Amino acid sequence: MDMDFVSESRHQHSNPSFASKRGENLSKEVFSIGVALELALVVVNDLVFIKRGKYLSETEVLIIKGALNDREYEEIATHSTYSLNYIQRTVAPQLWDILSEIIGNGERVGKKKLWYFLEQVNKKYLIQFALNKKEKTDPNNLLKVSKGKVPDISKFYGRAKELSYLKELINKHRCISLVGVAGVGKSTLAAKLIAEISVEPRTGFDCLIWKSLTHAPLLQDLIGELIELIPPLEPESTLPEYTQAMISILIKRLQSRRCLLVLDAFEALFQGNNFAQRLEYGLFFHRLIEEEHQSCLLLTSRILPDDIDIMIRAEQSPEYLKIDGLDTDAAMELLVEQGLTDKEKCSELIETYRGNPLELKAVVKRINHFFAGDTKMFFENPTTLISNEFQAMLNEMFGQLLSETQKQIMICLAEEIVLSSKTTSFTKLLNQVNQKLSVSTSEIITAIEKLERQSLIESFKDPLTKEIKFSLQPVIRKYVTTDPRGLVRGSNHSLKLAIAS
Ligand SMILES: Nc1ncnc2c1ncn2[C@@H]1O[C@H](COP(=O)(O)OP(=O)(O)OP(=O)(O)O)[C@@H](O)[C@H]1O
Ligand SMILES: [Mg+2]
Repeated sequence: MDMDFVSESRHQHSNPSFASKRGENLSKEVFSIGVALELALVVVNDLVFIKRGKYLSETEVLIIKGALNDREYEEIATHSTYSLNYIQRTVAPQLWDILSEIIGNGERVGKKKLWYFLEQVNKKYLIQFALNKKEKTDPNNLLKVSKGKVPDISKFYGRAKELSYLKELINKHRCISLVGVAGVGKSTLAAKLIAEISVEPRTGFDCLIWKSLTHAPLLQDLIGELIELIPPLEPESTLPEYTQAMISILIKRLQSRRCLLVLDAFEALFQGNNFAQRLEYGLFFHRLIEEEHQSCLLLTSRILPDDIDIMIRAEQSPEYLKIDGLDTDAAMELLVEQGLTDKEKCSELIETYRGNPLELKAVVKRINHFFAGDTKMFFENPTTLISNEFQAMLNEMFGQLLSETQKQIMICLAEEIVLSSKTTSFTKLLNQVNQKLSVSTSEIITAIEKLERQSLIESFKDPLTKEIKFSLQPVIRKYVTTDPRGLVRGSNHSLKLAIAS
């Protein structure tokens, strides 16, 4: 699944004409509401898409335009190929519902409110549209839309805080990394951000780019692709062959155009033993972070690469945002949508899986498969399930990425939780790790910090003693205790072998 997606923001891109975007059939529309409002309708169309993952249908457009032309449903039906019953009873009620949700500000939207909204949008954006239309005819401006897949956001819950924080960050920083465990929703969040800013002209991005690194492309190929996606302001001579020179060209483009560049699944670069490629990428990111430009790089990653971690600790850019599971309300919506109705049981699942949407979906799938959807029966046979993706991530972590100290910390935590209570104090953890490994306290602290940043261990302050306590989420605890691939305890031996070979 190679994913490239380029969208230009400020509305100039995907919907230059509402009719032409939806194809021939819409150009046959019988009602005319003027070009200006037609353009404003594009905004409504985008908002509808964000809300429900589907653009306005032909019938819905007819109803909106008919309403704005003061036509009754009968008249709209007569001028169309649809029956009055279908328009009035099936399509219209749902259409006004969704419009009320999107632009109603808590009130029901009718014809008048819709007019008002379109006029406001129009006032705000018409100048922008005009400018962009002019830009489009400029042969030097080759901004284009390249087809590709970004995660589906048609069913998106919660994350309001993260989205508004991210919108602030993308205006202040050149590099932001979204770090979190498998399936927690990093890519979906980045996709939602892109969708939202593509209809919010004030964010001022000229170009939105989505690129998945799942297949760990060669750096030179990636740069070549990015250069192609961001057109130069002035015509340029042929591309240099050397990677560093190509990076310089890319940075020049990122200076001249304000781009939001999402590099998804960044952790793929750290799989396998291609150290040369890692070094190359490391240098590339250093340059992107340190050299002047007006664009923003948004990375999503399951792991926090050492390079970036060092910069975070030194409080340099890049900005790092730890992504946790969905909050209870959002996770509850997700479970209800998946068909679970027992609120109490849902709460238990949310707590166990820490609101991780992928884990929750996987567990519901298994409840449906093995217990015929009977949550009661599932809870009578309680077990903590681990999704394939989560397990693959932990295999990768324990097999390749975690240090001996980090592993030992996790083992001690798991043992302590199984033996006694749910959490361990810092001093206790320090003692236990020290009994097993002779490492300095500062090394243990650094290891704990990195595990926390990657959401592999949980920490919180005891409200009474103010002491910091640590814990493991159930899925990780189960993996550490069961050690399904022998990577948790037997890794010391296999790691040495791997290095020697
Ligand atoms: N806010 C959300 N609302 C509803 N569903 C969500 C949300 N966030 C994520 N999901 C769903 O959870 C699943 C995992 O999401 P996503 O792929 O974004 O996770 P990820 O953190 O990028 O995982 P990975 O580390 O494997 O790339 C997907 O099915 C996605 O649709
Ligand atoms: Mg992802």
